[in-house]
Amino acid sequence: MIFDTHAHYDDKQFDEDRDELLNSMAAMGVNTIVNVGASFKGCRRALELAEKYPFMYAAVGIHPDEAGFLNEDTFAELKGWCRGDKVVAVGEIGLDYYWDTEPRDLQKKWFVRQLELAREMGLPVNIHSRDAAEDTFRIIKEHAEGIPGIIHCFSGSRELASEYVKLGFYIGVGGVVTFKNGKKLKQVVKEISLSNIVLETDCPYLAPEPYRGKRNHSGYIKYIAQEVAGLKGITYEEVIEETEKNARAVYGLKS
Ligand code: NI
Repeated sequence: MIFDTHAHYDDKQFDEDRDELLNSMAAMGVNTIVNVGASFKGCRRALELAEKYPFMYAAVGIHPDEAGFLNEDTFAELKGWCRGDKVVAVGEIGLDYYWDTEPRDLQKKWFVRQLELAREMGLPVNIHSRDAAEDTFRIIKEHAEGIPGIIHCFSGSRELASEYVKLGFYIGVGGVVTFKNGKKLKQVVKEISLSNIVLETDCPYLAPEPYRGKRNHSGYIKYIAQEVAGLKGITYEEVIEETEKNARAVYGLKS
């Protein structure tokens, strides 16, 4: 069944119908969702959602755009959350030079600290990288050796994807793979093995075709899986089955 490795159901875009939508997930073939925190508030909400829904898990971490909220006190709180029963990863963490909301040195500092936290807590990581491919890769090489993880919403080259795979990372593939201008990601999907791919929505953002621009949700992963199946010349079922297996492996969840 469908495993959404990266969703944000804490987002206010779900305020109107969150419960109704989440209660319809099984009927849409979705059996596991990892709700990824990005801000402090987002992490708290992710923990609440994971508490409420048996099929939901939480990742806790502070997005580079929110790095300014981190200090020794808030970091200690984050560390406490990592001990939660339903916490499966530290994330999303990384670098964002597109928005550059926080100074780059600060982004890097807390990216490294959160990688170290993941190592200490024995958790995998969920990585966000936007317009910061070089620095992200360098920091991961230097500080994340042996830590399992997902490069969320991968947007780099085939070469970079292969380098991450060599380090043991999974490539997170979402709605962009269905876009006409998603050629680069389509190439990446063709070239790397299915055993290194996981599926994700990043909902409410990045809805796949034919819903591009609309609010996204985990039920739409089927369009992403169909595209991946077409690109690799394999069946839809094979994509769903294998990517679920990969997701369970990286997040350390039993089937
Ligand atoms: Ni995200």
